[in-house]
Amino acid sequence: MEHSIKWELLLTVLAVGTQAAFADDLVIADFEQQSWETWTVTGKAFGDAPATGALPGQMAVTGFQGQQLANTFVGGDETTGTAVSSPFRIERSHIAFLVGGGADISKVGLELVVEGRVVRRASGSESEELSWDAWEVSDLRGRLAEIRIYDLSRGGWGHISVDQLTQTNSPPKRFDLSQRLAEYRQSADYMNEPLRPQYHFSPEINWMNDPNGLVWHEGEYHLFHQYNPAGNSWGHMSWGHAVSDDLVHWKHLPLAIPEQGGIMAFSGCCVVDHGNTSGFGTVENPAMVAIYTGHGHGRQVQNLAWSNDRGRTWSLFTENPVLDIGNSDFRDPKVFWHEPTRKWVMVVSLAAERVLIFYGSPNLKDWQELSRFGPAGTLYKPNWECPDLFELPVEGEPGKTRWVLEADMGSGSIAGGSGGEYFVGDFDGTHFRTEQAAQWVDFGRDFYAPVSWDNLPRSDARRIWIGWLNNWETCLIPTTPWRSSMSVPRSLSLRSVAFNSEEPERLVLVQRPVKELEKLRVSSTPVDVSAAAWPPVAVTNPGDLKGYQFEVEVRLITGSARSVGLRIRTGDDEFTEIGFDRWQNSVYVDRKRSGNVSFHPAFAGRHLAPARVIAGKISLRILVDRSMVEVFINDGEAVISDRIFPLGKDPVLEVFAGGPDAALQDLQIHRMKSVWSGDGSPMPRGGAAAVQ
Ligand code: FRU
Repeated sequence: MEHSIKWELLLTVLAVGTQAAFADDLVIADFEQQSWETWTVTGKAFGDAPATGALPGQMAVTGFQGQQLANTFVGGDETTGTAVSSPFRIERSHIAFLVGGGADISKVGLELVVEGRVVRRASGSESEELSWDAWEVSDLRGRLAEIRIYDLSRGGWGHISVDQLTQTNSPPKRFDLSQRLAEYRQSADYMNEPLRPQYHFSPEINWMNDPNGLVWHEGEYHLFHQYNPAGNSWGHMSWGHAVSDDLVHWKHLPLAIPEQGGIMAFSGCCVVDHGNTSGFGTVENPAMVAIYTGHGHGRQVQNLAWSNDRGRTWSLFTENPVLDIGNSDFRDPKVFWHEPTRKWVMVVSLAAERVLIFYGSPNLKDWQELSRFGPAGTLYKPNWECPDLFELPVEGEPGKTRWVLEADMGSGSIAGGSGGEYFVGDFDGTHFRTEQAAQWVDFGRDFYAPVSWDNLPRSDARRIWIGWLNNWETCLIPTTPWRSSMSVPRSLSLRSVAFNSEEPERLVLVQRPVKELEKLRVSSTPVDVSAAAWPPVAVTNPGDLKGYQFEVEVRLITGSARSVGLRIRTGDDEFTEIGFDRWQNSVYVDRKRSGNVSFHPAFAGRHLAPARVIAGKISLRILVDRSMVEVFINDGEAVISDRIFPLGKDPVLEVFAGGPDAALQDLQIHRMKSVWSGDGSPMPRGGAAAVQ
């Protein structure tokens, strides 16, 4: 993401506090008044009154209680100021508060002042989500105190947010993840909320973004991910963890690498050190080594952590960081063993410069720069993050391979907001040289930061990746108690394609859902689509698609009509349309009327992917999973991935053909089992999920 644009401006989520106040708590300030009242305010940063959420130019602010909070983003990061409470007597063991915003405690924060002396301090952790913190003040009982909120910073994260200052004998826990998970696991909706994908991975509760550390080891596919243990929007980034033995059924595991000491665990990768080059394991029992970005104190550096017990517990390398170039935008390492030159190779992003750096290492600890790639690509400016580099076979040319270098941009992508692009070329162990112009990875709005699994067994020649099905611009999607899901795992290859007759052939990235997903099909029904015409005609009955998790395979005969395709209708005026538009020579997903589209102004839209009409036909494979849509065109040579948030729960499939010589052919519906419960009904309590 880019901090300035990560979430579009003013979207404000008023979080209703979940923390019960205790009867004998004394509220010092909840900032619910129309003015600063008893607070003495100086400078401009606090404005005339407490804020009602995010201020102009600020990312979404969440986690505060009631309707208002103290937020020093008035006038942006440049303004400064202080606010001092009226004096109060300390009468409880703790002073608890919600805090968010900047982490540089020397410039932004809040402090407890007793008889003129600062005795306690706290600040945020570069997150706009407020979370609980508390000072132990038993030793100060009976003394007169004031609280001073200060913003003396004009730079990035130069603001602080505070709410619910309370004297209490029972301070709320900062991360009450286990408690909240335990409650959620007892809830009637466990992993079965109306918008919860049933055959795509999602965390049980809380916020998730990029997939991290994808690696196969001793029979398990690991799926680590950017995870916020403290809430349902971005912040406190840590590595969440899940494993699977078939890429389809996932088991949630406890947090792997937490945010620590103000250093967040940003994105990265995992390798299995078979040769024990790092010394973290043995050759007989090789270590899993995570290489990830430590983010904090104004820098981004590359760190190591390792595990000798199949990823269940992790130790941080005591000599971290292993790479520090004094840069604040240096992130998301992807490492693999390059056999021809017998070394580890890392590709990592100098994000703001749109440059990827390649490093080599004999042991994962000592890294030497090999070369750089970029700035390059489709766009002039936005950043690059989460790169990946791998070799792929070219379809139809046995023995031929090319290298693919992929990178993601936080904004400005093909369908708007964040997205990925890739280059096809050659990597010789030192340099990557592109042989073609950059191409888009996915033509929908919701496929970001894909990375591929490392160390697949020798018997499996596939390269498989998974992406975050979300977009930074519209990422505060209307789901709770979790936010975000992954795509299905996709296996990759290259194919020589010309999307239209004016273009020469080029190698394009082909993505197909992994074959393991097919075992989830409960029933496969051919559907008669001969009546397709305009207006659209229903071809299923209400109730047929109950559960809302299915796949559609179909061929479109394009004819001379402008369009042909299908609609997933969930209400009178609610549908998602997927079809071919001959005027635009494209397959499209139109989600303008797909349900809840109003949670963000950039969400509603129609997304186009280039499509070849091969012998008069286009084939589509459409995965629908409650709030997920992935459309694979002509066996994966272009993909459109989009979230939808239908309000109706009983989808009916309709087909349409805009002219007499257009038609649909061979339409099949495969209803899919839930990987959480087997059939879409709620799981037995304490089921698949491991104990946190
Ligand atoms: C991409 C990204 C990464 C970073 C991570 C932080 O989505 O911005 O560059 O490591 O998210 O959560």
